[in-house]
Amino acid sequence: MASRIHPSILNCDLGHLSDEVAAISSADGVHVDIMDNHFVPNLSWGLSVTETVVHSTDLPIDAHLMIEDPDRWAPGYAEVGCHTVTAHSEACMAPIRLARELHRLGSRAGIALRPTTPLSAVESVLSEFDMLLIMTVEPGFGGQSFIEGMLPKISQARQLMNREHLDLRIQIDGGVSRQTIERAAEAGADVFVAGSAVFQAENAAEEIAILRQLANSHSH
Ligand code: DX5
Ligand code: ZN
Repeated sequence: MASRIHPSILNCDLGHLSDEVAAISSADGVHVDIMDNHFVPNLSWGLSVTETVVHSTDLPIDAHLMIEDPDRWAPGYAEVGCHTVTAHSEACMAPIRLARELHRLGSRAGIALRPTTPLSAVESVLSEFDMLLIMTVEPGFGGQSFIEGMLPKISQARQLMNREHLDLRIQIDGGVSRQTIERAAEAGADVFVAGSAVFQAENAAEEIAILRQLANSHSH
């Protein structure tokens, strides 16, 4: 499956949001990080900014909800037109009900794992989802370094997908760069969130192309 690059706009220049989103128009999706200062020690934005991003681009929006009570709040993100809505497994009380509700509202459903949460926490519900997000940093901030110890979890997830014939994308988020993307692709990830690597590059479009090429040449 072709690798997808989803830049995270968490640390882009918010004063020029539409220009920043335009600069990544060659990406495969836009990753929007929602933080509530409770599930993670940081606050970003919520539904209205997300809706603005949805309307500012033709790219699919991938909303990553780092919030408490996603059972209550996640459906709103599907309603404003996000392509994929991802809730954290640690915060979600009824993941199957939520996945079905998101599908009913027309979006895809993702489930995310913090670094210390094992794959086994979601194994039995994965068939209800379209994407598994394996965090490769502690959620909360951009610009952290990739946790190498997550590579076995990515491989394990890929093996599980193959064994159970599950049709899910495997997304990774945190510390993705030219230095780390190849090993993550080799392990089995196929959707790559990159914040600083893309927005701190001199040329965002070129960086997206390089990351995509590196991932594709190391995927299975
Ligand atoms: C972290 C967020 C990430 C973050 C990625 O909690 O979920 O999406 O913005 O940023 P980088 O690529 O800089 O690690
Ligand atoms: Zn994220």
